[in-house]
Amino acid sequence: MNFHDSERMSGVLAQKGMREASGAEDADLIIFNTCSIRDKAEHKFLSELGRIKKLKKKNPALRVAVAGCIAQRMGEGLFKRAPHVDFLIGPNNLHKIADVQNWEGRSAALEENPELAGTDLPALRKKKPLAWVSIMFGCNNFCSYCIVPYTRGREVSRPEENILTEIEGLAAEGFKEITLLGQNVNSYRGKDGQAGLPELLEKINGVPGIERIRFVTSHPRDFSDALIYAMASLGKVCRHIHLPMQSGSDSILAAMNRRYTAGQYIEKVERLRRLVPGAAITTDLIAGFPGETEEDHKSTLKAMESIRFDGVFAFKYSVRPGTAAARMEGQLPEGVRARRLDEILAMQDGITLEKNNALLGAELEVLVDGPSDLAPGRLTGRTSTNKIVVFDSTPAIKPGDIIAIKITVPGKHSLCGKPV
Ligand code: 5AD
Ligand code: SF4
Repeated sequence: MNFHDSERMSGVLAQKGMREASGAEDADLIIFNTCSIRDKAEHKFLSELGRIKKLKKKNPALRVAVAGCIAQRMGEGLFKRAPHVDFLIGPNNLHKIADVQNWEGRSAALEENPELAGTDLPALRKKKPLAWVSIMFGCNNFCSYCIVPYTRGREVSRPEENILTEIEGLAAEGFKEITLLGQNVNSYRGKDGQAGLPELLEKINGVPGIERIRFVTSHPRDFSDALIYAMASLGKVCRHIHLPMQSGSDSILAAMNRRYTAGQYIEKVERLRRLVPGAAITTDLIAGFPGETEEDHKSTLKAMESIRFDGVFAFKYSVRPGTAAARMEGQLPEGVRARRLDEILAMQDGITLEKNNALLGAELEVLVDGPSDLAPGRLTGRTSTNKIVVFDSTPAIKPGDIIAIKITVPGKHSLCGKPV
């Protein structure tokens, strides 16, 4: 989501005639697009911010903007903490970057923006043939550990016509894969609050030129049968779902305010696997939530063992100021959180490797993204199930093509293969 927010700010600035500098030293304006989800992201930003202080000393005309969730969370206090910051732009006010050339002195755009959902921003997309498209903003869920509802505000859905017009334009420009973005895409509400995500997927499925459709992130409570049917019946919708489980313990899920049990989560996964054979399921897990006992942690490992996710993003619980979990008793020491995280990651490494090994010799359909960052001279693409495949390039293969690759070396993070 942040990556796409940056694409949108770049789009707005490009429309104003500004262009990307070759590096921080050549820039007239430096924008930090920031994330508040865990304190690690905040520390990383603060140390980067410290590093550009000397650039501003050398070039007093340099302007520094902080955009995104840290700007929203820290507010004008950030001016005190870092006097070399000129502008603050909250995640719901990204369009205000358009005025940057007129701003004098210090300026902050952190207010609520009721127009957010209806305001279309140009985006300078950097990942052709892949495009991210926002379908909703904000979140109403208030999971007890999470800062997002406080920084991104209440949930609003973008009108269906705006989404479809943007996607038709992307198809005309040669984009092939669309990923719909929202904190909780399952509660998307289109026309008159009636049509939901399945109906939207059906319409996008009918856009000529678009080959693949993905969507993130789904909340398990709102993951409906209608969405499973849409995944099963719409040819362009990928066979992958990112469905954050967060914990395998019912009491921790309740304390997290997730409003589902581990059993209900597993039931939904089973239903999906029955109706969409071969569907890949990835998840997010939090290690060491306040009050998590060894027993609770073992329930998470047990759930992982029984579900066998295709991929897991796991994080140590991080206290977010102002959230309900920050006030809970039973905050766990760093050492315990770190050890539980390691156990989760080790268990998943084994499962991922087994799953990838089972693909040795398989012929998989891959949408070609472009040159691989990690393997120079080779190309990379993804399967419908979102597995990364690396392969040798030939002059005939272009980004956006869908080709068959035979897997020759299954790895932990990606699969290597040869075009068939
Ligand atoms: N600490 C650790 N992980 C968190 N996440 C959100 N808030 C926190 C927090 N305070 C994780 C959740 C979410 C993912 C985007 O980030 O797992 O799904
Ligand atoms: Fe945060 Fe929960 Fe909303 Fe996701 S659904 S953004 S974890 S509050």
